Amino acid sequence: MKHFSMLINAKDKIAHIRPEIYGHFSEHLGRCIYNGIYVGENSSIPNVNGIRSDIVEAFKNIHLPVLRWPGGCFADEYHWKDGIGEKSGRRKMVNTNWGGVTEDNSFGTHEFMELCEQVGCQPYIAGNVGSGTVQELAEWVEYMTFDGVSPLADLRKENGREKPWSLKYLGIGNENWGCGGNMRPEYYADEYKRYQSFCKDYSGNHLFKIACGPSAGDYNWMEVMMKNLNKNHTRGIALHFYSIPDWDKKGLATEFNDEQYYTLLSTANFMEPLLTRHTEIMNRYDPKNEIGLVVDEWGCWFDVEPGTNPGFLYQQNTMRDAIVAALTLNIFNRHSKRVIMANLAQVVNVLQAIILTEGEKMVKTPTYHVFDLYKEHQDGEAVYCFCENTNMVDGKDTPMISSSASVKDGVMTITLANCSLEEDAEISCSIAGFQGTDVGARILTNEVHAFNDFDAPDKVKIEEYHADLNGDILTVTLPACSIVSITVR
Ligand code: AHR
Repeated sequence: MKHFSMLINAKDKIAHIRPEIYGHFSEHLGRCIYNGIYVGENSSIPNVNGIRSDIVEAFKNIHLPVLRWPGGCFADEYHWKDGIGEKSGRRKMVNTNWGGVTEDNSFGTHEFMELCEQVGCQPYIAGNVGSGTVQELAEWVEYMTFDGVSPLADLRKENGREKPWSLKYLGIGNENWGCGGNMRPEYYADEYKRYQSFCKDYSGNHLFKIACGPSAGDYNWMEVMMKNLNKNHTRGIALHFYSIPDWDKKGLATEFNDEQYYTLLSTANFMEPLLTRHTEIMNRYDPKNEIGLVVDEWGCWFDVEPGTNPGFLYQQNTMRDAIVAALTLNIFNRHSKRVIMANLAQVVNVLQAIILTEGEKMVKTPTYHVFDLYKEHQDGEAVYCFCENTNMVDGKDTPMISSSASVKDGVMTITLANCSLEEDAEISCSIAGFQGTDVGARILTNEVHAFNDFDAPDKVKIEEYHADLNGDILTVTLPACSIVSITVR
C-alpha cells in the first residue's frame, strides 16, 4: 500500500466545466449508426422511429450532452441532400473511408436531429469542406434553422419538420490536413473563412463555429489558425489525439502485457502537455479566452476484433480503456478554462465505444461506467486539486494517481484513478474552503483485462464504496486498477 497526500482548495476555482467536455462522436462508420444506434422502424428491437430505445436510455443516464455527426472522414464526403426525403428515393453512395460499403442514406438529418431530441443532447454537425461546396453547407444550415418561407425551409417542411431545429455547434470540415482534403493550414484558414461567411444565423439561432484544428502535436497548424482566425467568426478550434503508442503494432483491446499497459498510459497522459502547449499558443493570440479548444476526437485505438471487417474499427473495451478515460477526463477538467468540448471516438461499436451491440443485445463498456462516475462534474466549477504522485515507470509519464475535483450546488465531486496494476493507494486529502459532513463514494474496479461481453454484461460494473470524512480530512483507499468517484455534501 502506498500513501499519498492530496489537497483540494474549493476557493481556488479553475473554470466552469462545460457539460460538453463529456461529449461523444458518432460517424457513419461500421456499426455505429446502422445496426448500432439506428435499427430502422421495422426492427423487432424496441425503437422509436428506428432509434434503439435501450441506447437512448443509456445515453440519458450519463447525461450525454452533445453528439458529433456525421463524421469524421465521412463528413467530408457526405452530401446532406442525399439523406432527406422518402427513404426509398434516397441516393446511395460508397463509404470510401470505411470498408467501401454502400451507404443507403436512410439515416440523415431528420433522423440525427430526432436522436438528439430523444436523448436531450445538443447536435454538433460536421460540415463537408473537402468535397462539398460553400453553397451546399450554407443551404444545410438554412434547411435546419430557418423559420420562415424559403426554398430550403419549405423543403424541410415537406419532409415532415415544420419548425426548425436549434443548431449551435457547426464544424467547418474535419481533418482537412488529411482525409478532409490534404490542405496546408494557410489554405484551410482561407477556406474556413469563406465557408463560414455563408453559414448564417437564422431566426434567432446562433452558430458556434468550430474550425478544423491540429492533429496532436502539430503546433504550427494551431499557430496558423490563431494567426488567421478570430472570435468574430470562430468560437472553437478542434484537436484530434488518439492514444496509439505504435500505429503498426496496436494489438487487440483485450490482449496486452503490463509493459504495453503502462506504455499506453504514458501515451494517453500526453494529453496533458499537448493541451498545455496548444493553450499557450491560443493564449498569445486570444488572451481573453474567447476561442475554445474542442478535443472532438480522442480515445484508444486498437486492432479490430478478429473476424470483423477491418474497415469497421470494432474493438472490445477493458478496464484498461476505463483507466485511460478516467485520467483523460481528469485532464480535461483541469484544463476546463480552455477546453470547452471533447468527444470520445466513438459512441457505439467503434473504437473506444461506450456501448457495444450484437443483434438485440447491448452492453455498457467499462468506459461507459467512467462517464457515469464522472457525470456530476458536468456544469460544476473545477477547483484546485493536487495529489502527491509517483511515476510508475521510470522515464515514462505514468503518474500512479489521477485526480480532479469540482463543486456544484454545494456538492463537491472528486474523481480519482489508481492506475497501478499492483499497489493499492491510501489517499489522505485536506479539503479547504468547503464545509461538508456527508460523504458517498462509488467505485469501478476489476482485473485490468476484464471487459463486459454479451454473455457477461455486468462483469465490470459500478459498486457502492466507502470514504471517510473527519473534519476537513478525507481518507479513501483505492485498490489497484480502480476508479472512484466521491461526493462530499
Ligand atoms: O474516428 C475514426 C476516424 O479517425 C475519423 O473518421 C477521423 O476523423 C479520424 O482520423
